[in-house]
Amino acid sequence: TLHHHKQESNECESRTAEFLMSNSLLQSGTMKTLALADLLFTQGFGTRRICAGLVQQGLVSVAGQSITDASAPIAAADGLAFSVQGQQWRYYEYATVILHKPAGYECSQKPSAWPSIYSLLPMPLRMRPSKGKQMGVQAIGRLDQDTTGLLVLTDNGQLLHRMAAPKHHVPKVYQVQCKHAMTSAQVDQLLAGVVLDDDPKPVRASACSLSGERRLDLTLAQGKYHQVKRMVAAVGNRVEALHRSQIGQLHLPSDLPAGQWRWLTAEEITAMQQKQ
Ligand code: URA
Repeated sequence: TLHHHKQESNECESRTAEFLMSNSLLQSGTMKTLALADLLFTQGFGTRRICAGLVQQGLVSVAGQSITDASAPIAAADGLAFSVQGQQWRYYEYATVILHKPAGYECSQKPSAWPSIYSLLPMPLRMRPSKGKQMGVQAIGRLDQDTTGLLVLTDNGQLLHRMAAPKHHVPKVYQVQCKHAMTSAQVDQLLAGVVLDDDPKPVRASACSLSGERRLDLTLAQGKYHQVKRMVAAVGNRVEALHRSQIGQLHLPSDLPAGQWRWLTAEEITAMQQKQ
């Protein structure tokens, strides 16, 4: 029976190990070994030839150590620190970042009248090669030129796709500055649903409350073009300033100034996709 017992506990341990293994693979992807020049290429530091040149010229170090062999194998784990020409950087299989959008920037790669939000990001984030047609990270949804606040950008095609799918629409929270005093009747109208000009089906706010005489906190589950401005106009008011503070359960960090970006943690990426 002792033998029997031991076997049982071994089985249990190996099942636990299997579970931990599959779980960590799910969370961090498979770990890859990459030649240093290839690693730099995937992270947006230029063509393979340019990346090999950077290494051979002694301009690259990994985990604080200079490496001059372009084919040196590197265990590419998310978060691995390296530097290129003195620029500190981190390896991520997928780049997902948060940007505090300032007013006066367009969410377009080829802006017409204002500078692009992409000009606020460092070159490697914009140059990462991708399987899709666009290089680099792409904004998940857009904010108007004059809107400020929380924007997430990624080169993870699956994440982009999922966040765009209507059935996955997570709530987005906006702070709205209105031109005229907002009445509680107008708030009720926004909650009940208003008809916009491109669709007879009414759209409603999932939450709406007054936070000042001319200020609203508004939550939307859809993402129609100019939706906040058009909904507020539909109840006879006008948006003077608009700020997005939340996507899903992800809040704009209070320590991230306008115009600045940072990497999102795995927990924050999960939070962004959560409806409550
Ligand atoms: N609704 C708008 O009208 N503008 C934005 O930028 C976002 C939501």
